[in-house]
Amino acid sequence: MALITWKPELATGHETIDEQHQSLIDAFNRLHTAMKQGKGKDELGSILVFLKDYTVSHFKMEEGLMDRSAYPGATMHKAIHRELVNQVADLVERFQKGTGVLTLQVMDFLEKWLTDHIQGEDKMLAEHLRKRAVK
Ligand SMILES: [Fe+2]
Ligand SMILES: [Fe+2]
Repeated sequence: MALITWKPELATGHETIDEQHQSLIDAFNRLHTAMKQGKGKDELGSILVFLKDYTVSHFKMEEGLMDRSAYPGATMHKAIHRELVNQVADLVERFQKGTGVLTLQVMDFLEKWLTDHIQGEDKMLAEHLRKRAVK
C-alpha cells in the first residue's frame, strides 16, 4: 500500500481524461498522506468528499464523451462508473457516521479501482475517441 505515482501506463492519451485522472490520483495521495499523519476526522472527511465529488464529475465528463462519440461500450462503462460511485458514496457515508473506519483496505480498494479502471475501460474509451477524432 503506497502512494500512486503517475506512470506512462496510466496515460490514456486523451488530454482532458488524463488531466482529471492526475487530479484524482493527487486527491488519493493527499488522503493517504493525511491518514499516515494521523489527521483527524474533519480533514480526512473533507478529502474523501472531494474525492467522491470529483469522481462523480469526472465520470459525467467521460460519459458525455461516450454519448458524443456513439461509444459502443457505453452501457457497460457507465454501469461500472455507477458501481464505483455507489461504493465510494457508501464509504463516505459510513466514515461520516463513524461506523466505518478509513482503513488500509479501503485505500487498497480505491487504489485498485483507480489504476485498474484507468488502464482498462478508460484506455478503451480513449482509443475509440482517438479513432473518432473526438477531443
Ligand atoms: Fe476515468
Ligand atoms: Fe471511466
